Formats: sequence, structure tokens, C-alpha cells
Amino acid sequence: MTDSKQQPSVLHVGIDLGTSRSAVSASNGQRHVVESYVGWPVDMVARKVLKQDVLIGTPAIENRTMLDLHRPLERGLIKEGSEKDLEAVKQLLDHLIELAAGGKRKAKSQVRAVVGVPAEAMRVNKQQLANTLKGSVDALMIVSEPFAVAYGLDALLHSLIVDVGAGTTDFCLMRGHFPTEEDQRTLTHAGDSIDQNLLQLISEHHPEAQVSIFMVRAWKEKHGFVGKPQAPVKVTVPVRGKPTEIDITKEMRTACESIVEPIIETMLDLLPRVEPEFQARVRGNVILSGGSSLISGLRAALQKGLEPIGGGSIRSVKDPVFAGSEGCLAIALDAPDKDWEKLR
Ligand SMILES: Nc1ncnc2c1ncn2[C@@H]1O[C@H](COP(=O)(O)OP(=O)(O)OP(=O)(O)O)[C@@H](O)[C@H]1O
Ligand SMILES: [Mg+2]
Repeated sequence: MTDSKQQPSVLHVGIDLGTSRSAVSASNGQRHVVESYVGWPVDMVARKVLKQDVLIGTPAIENRTMLDLHRPLERGLIKEGSEKDLEAVKQLLDHLIELAAGGKRKAKSQVRAVVGVPAEAMRVNKQQLANTLKGSVDALMIVSEPFAVAYGLDALLHSLIVDVGAGTTDFCLMRGHFPTEEDQRTLTHAGDSIDQNLLQLISEHHPEAQVSIFMVRAWKEKHGFVGKPQAPVKVTVPVRGKPTEIDITKEMRTACESIVEPIIETMLDLLPRVEPEFQARVRGNVILSGGSSLISGLRAALQKGLEPIGGGSIRSVKDPVFAGSEGCLAIALDAPDKDWEKLR
């Protein structure tokens, strides 16, 4: 039985705190996703135009020329030593909780939140995150993001989760209990590193083209692929102010393929750690999640990478945007009282 049935005023929320976007799923049925950007007007002119003290998500990106814009997570961690980034994380989490409450958070209603963070952040950032959430939630549990995905899919035994996000790719071997540090890995080869690579390759090969990281990311989300190209990738960019078409097929392939080998190597390092009689089952039960898992051909390329150790089967989650937050919500609904850290 869940707490929500005993205490109708408890709102359970599952939050996937992501480098590029964060999602929330709540026990009242609310589901929202927000770009992980927070911005403050740079001066009184910007404040007058925007008529807001802080902007969060897509409005922050759209109005970025007027903002001190922060993307507070980097390679899966809250950027170190920056008060503004900590404040941005707080604003982002409060915003997600407000959205989850349907904008009608009652003063007396309790919020219990499970927050999924990259596996590496579990070691470093846990306390910082708890401090940030004091005053916003009543009880908190921080879990690793790939574990949350496994929980939500009920893939808790003999599975390997590979979550290819923006800041990090996270791996988690599931053995039917809470994963230990040895069961998890984090790589910084993920969506952001592809974007950086692609921007650099385009700047090298087309020095006259004016390109921003936001443009590059949008092209990747539309045309990203590994392996043989299905069609040439052509985009229009300003060259000395004139819209001009350039072909970026090769650059796109090279940038997207930059994450393939490191991910295969890590799977090949983790799988032999499974008890020998269960290795074939885990190889046959690899689950791919995260936004970057949508890169065309990636699943097949990774599955091919398992051939040297006898082959395996990799499947993609149905809903990469909400797989993490839904898993966090499932944990929140199941967790016994003693497992929560009470913040107030
Ligand atoms: N259709 C797509 N094709 C390729 N990449 C995509 C697509 N859609 C989203 N992405 C990329 O997926 C990444 C975002 O995925 P996700 O939301 O899982 O990451 P995150 O949770 O924000 O990051 P992290 O888990 O590393 O903290 C971004 O790099 C984005 O550009
Ligand atoms: Mg993520």
C-alpha cells in the first residue's frame, strides 16, 4: 500500500534532473518536461522588457540575449563553486514541483520527492542537492538515474541499463537489489560531447559559416545518425550574413560515432563482472534510454559491439523523455517511510 492512500495530502513526485532537460511525474497524474536552463535579466532594461525576475526552461533559451543564462548541470554534476548555479538548480526544482502540483500547491500538503541524478553525481553531489531542496520538499530520496529507469521498467534482475543523456552516459547493472558503486559507470561521452565535436568539425571545414551550439544541437536532433547515411545532411547557415546551404553529412557521422566505441568498451568491461551463469541473460537484456539513444543507427551499432562476447540484445525504452521520472515516481510510491530523508 502507498502512503498516498493513507495520507491524501501527500504528493509524490519523481524528478529526472537532467543536464539538458528535466522531467517530473507526479502521483496526481501530472507530467512535465522543462529545458534545464535558468536565466536572470541582465539589467533594468531587460527586466522591463521581460517583466519577470527569473525565466526557466524554453522561455529562458528564447530570451537568452537579455539574460544571465545558466545551465547549472555539467557532465552530470552541479557546476562547482558557483552560487548562481546552485540557485538555478533550486529554481528549476521548485518550478518542476510547482508544475507537478498543478500550480495549486497547498501550504499544508506534503511533497515527497525522489530525484534521479547521474550515477557519478550520487557520490559527489548528494548533500549539496539535499541542502538545495530544504524548504521545497518534506522528504527526499536521491537515486541514480539508470537505476530509476530500471525500477520503472521492472527490469531489476539480470539487466544492464545504458542511459545516453546530454552530459553523461550512465550504466547500471541490475542484480535484484540496490546497485553498488561497482555496478555503475558514468562516461562523459553523450549528447553534449557530440554537439561540441560537431561544432568544432563544422567550424574547421566551413570556417566562413556562422554556427552556434544551439543550431548544431537542433541539427543533431533532427538528422543525427551513425553508420551509413540514409540521405545527405544539408543545412542552411549565414555566411557573411547570407543564408547558404552546406553539406554536413560527414561531420554529423563523425560526431555521432564518437560516443559508440567508449560505450561499447564500458559494456564489455561491465558484463564480465556478472556471475558467469547469468552473463548471457544480461547480454540479452540490455536497455537503452536517454534522449541521445534516439540517434539513428545507435542501437544497432551498440548491439554489434556485443558480438565479440557472444552477442546480445539491446532494446530501446518506449518513452526516453519520461522513463527516468516515471521510475522515480514508482520508487516514491513504493518506498517505506524509513528510506526517506526527512527535510522538515
Ligand atoms: N531525436 C534526437 N536525436 C538525437 N539526440 C537527441 C534527440 N532528442 C534529444 N537528443 C539529445 O538527447 C540529449 C538529452 O537527453 P536526456 O534528456 O536523456 O538528457 P539529460 O537527462 O538532460 O542529460 P543527463 O542524463 O546527461 O543529465 C541532448 O543531448 C539532446 O540533444
Ligand atoms: Mg538524463
